[in-house]
Amino acid sequence: MPTRTIIEPFRIKSIEPIRWTRREDRERFLRAAHYNLFLLSADDVLIDLLSDSGTGAMSIYQWGAIQEGDESYAGSRSYTRFRDSVQSIFGYKHVIPTHQGRAAERILFSTMVKPGDVVPNNTHFDTTRANVEAAGAEALDLIIAEGRQPGLIHPFKGNMDVAALEEAMARIGPRRIPLVMLTITNNSGGGQPVSMENARQVSRLCREHGIPLYFDACRFAENSYFIKLREPGFAGKTPKQIAQEMFSLGDGCTMSAKKDGLANIGGFLCTNDDQLAQQEENLLILTEGFPTYGGLAGRDLEAVAVGLQEACDEDYLRYRIASTAYLGNHLSEKGIPIVLPTGGHAIYLDARAFVPHIPLEQFPGVALAAELYLEGGIRSSEIGTLMFGKAARMDMVRLAIPRRTYTQSHIDYVIESVLEVWKNRDRIRGLRLTYEPPFLRHFTAKLEPV
Ligand SMILES: Cc1ncc(COP(=O)(O)O)c(C=O)c1O
Repeated sequence: MPTRTIIEPFRIKSIEPIRWTRREDRERFLRAAHYNLFLLSADDVLIDLLSDSGTGAMSIYQWGAIQEGDESYAGSRSYTRFRDSVQSIFGYKHVIPTHQGRAAERILFSTMVKPGDVVPNNTHFDTTRANVEAAGAEALDLIIAEGRQPGLIHPFKGNMDVAALEEAMARIGPRRIPLVMLTITNNSGGGQPVSMENARQVSRLCREHGIPLYFDACRFAENSYFIKLREPGFAGKTPKQIAQEMFSLGDGCTMSAKKDGLANIGGFLCTNDDQLAQQEENLLILTEGFPTYGGLAGRDLEAVAVGLQEACDEDYLRYRIASTAYLGNHLSEKGIPIVLPTGGHAIYLDARAFVPHIPLEQFPGVALAAELYLEGGIRSSEIGTLMFGKAARMDMVRLAIPRRTYTQSHIDYVIESVLEVWKNRDRIRGLRLTYEPPFLRHFTAKLEPV
């Protein structure tokens, strides 16, 4: 009989020690960090689930390619490899490298969006929303109703509400909608996938109205694997074929290669529009660098070129999705409220259900994340009222899993720690702000216990 255990499809070649701390030390560190886990020193964290962005482990093939980086200012060989790798999956005509995802967003929205415009998305991520708003436009979230109910099971909770999009197009008019975005997978909505059928419907509607469709493609490979598992007609296709089909429905994308590029830094912006590409490259030269490196070293371009292909590997994706589900299923079985079904890159604790005694204005997600740090030295992040203010539809604590980095025993330790916090949840207290910056406040806000 074949074995059923899904193992890490790699072995460990070099290690990075992590450090135990005592609870009383962590109390001190947390006070010094003003109860904002972004302000902790990473050395004071045992298991770091703050982000899956740029925190993964690279393969021997990526490290090998790094040695081949061509650092020429213009026309570098590494750019050609990078562009060819991107085009083999995404298929778009112009590939503009950037240092990370938000740089691609800034360039895209500064060229396409003007004050008074509206940009619909299934759910804008924090940097995406901030960049749309910085361009003077409104960021409109149009997730399906199921996507707003944490405990509800639905195979594609990242889907856009197509009827609501149609209504928005009729109400606002296509002239004020410079583009529509689909975020795959939907990070702010629980790492939930978007189906091919939904992307087709959104694409059809956009084309009928002459509005370009762009993908926020950060986790395109995980999204493709969910389509393979869950959407009829895709079981026999490879994740790469599925990604190619999805991107053919759009006109371009933004990408943070720190996620499904399996790299520690990097990103890109793609478009099929020649005129737009020219404007974008001019802006790139002003802020990021020449169009064949865009703020990256040649070696970074090499790491992304290899990483994008590795992210489409089926053994890797099977392990990736199964290991995220392992954490979620163990918590859910014990009655812990999480976003279901489990998403691709993270498990999201439903803080409103976990600590219902903490009012929203006292940041239940931030309070729960602080307690998890005190309990086990585990760093997570809030996605809720601190991050989005009144626009927050849910308050969640995201346990983001870096790619190819932690083993099953690390995750078992996380499960034990969350269960311990759950047992003592009545004792968790809310927080209040003592400082907030003018935008993206969750990164640097300071808080204190109420
Ligand atoms: C969905 C989504 N879009 C955009 C970004 C921004 O990418 P970066 O952090 O590389 O700027 C992120 C990062 O977490 C993301 O998850």
